[in-house]
Amino acid sequence: MRPFHLPEHLLIKESLASPAIFSQNRPVDLEIGCGVGFHSIQRAKKYPGRNLIAIEHTRIRFQRFAHRVSRHPPMPNLFPVHAHAVSWITKNVPRRSLSEVFLLYPNPNPQNRSQRWFLMPFWQRLIECLKPGGLVHLATNSPDYAREAEKAARELWSLECVFFRTLPSAWNTDFEPRTHFEKKYLRRGETCFDLQFLNPNGERGRRSRHGGVKRVPKPASIHRANL
Ligand SMILES: C[S@@+](CC[C@H](N)C(=O)[O-])C[C@H]1O[C@@H](n2cnc3c(N)ncnc32)[C@H](O)[C@@H]1O
Repeated sequence: MRPFHLPEHLLIKESLASPAIFSQNRPVDLEIGCGVGFHSIQRAKKYPGRNLIAIEHTRIRFQRFAHRVSRHPPMPNLFPVHAHAVSWITKNVPRRSLSEVFLLYPNPNPQNRSQRWFLMPFWQRLIECLKPGGLVHLATNSPDYAREAEKAARELWSLECVFFRTLPSAWNTDFEPRTHFEKKYLRRGETCFDLQFLNPNGERGRRSRHGGVKRVPKPASIHRANL
């Protein structure tokens, strides 16, 4: 893996002020490629004691996200960001500052491995931003992407796979899809894979519902989907 340098074309001309959210005394989570922001809004509402930065780079999707946010009561813990995630994170996110990172249905880029998040040199920077004991959540409808990400997480980035499971079909259970793409895939009857990784460099534990670190032994068995 070559070392990570921010490519020239991603350099932002004007500097973005580092958001004050990192100086607040709360956990900070990050969602990359949040689309129209359905998951970001639901999560921010559910966990008012955690800050969530939600990044989307396409203008149309970000506008729909911003419009959606404006229709809700104020959510001071939600920070929508219209930017390219690589450049924004590199410039604005301090090391060891993130508790959880969400990557929900990233574009799988089957023809271009350099565009797949877990294979990018940038991922090293992202892992450095993660606190010890921090979590990375990945969801995808591509078994190849899921398998490749799990291997890269383990072998390249020394993350531990906490679980690797399939989501229940939304139509046979009371499972509520978290994002627009999740809803679309489950409605089509596709299998969705849900993975969670732990940054073990420090306290080992799983998050409780309220965001504290719940001490647990290393998972006895990794729940793997039958791929
Ligand atoms: C397949 S969509 C999934 C959207 C949403 N997470 C969902 O599940 O409904 C992937 C999203 O990632 C966004 N995206 C891809 N690369 C990005 C980047 N470098 N920075 C910010 N957003 C990005 C795309 O614009 C798109 O909205």
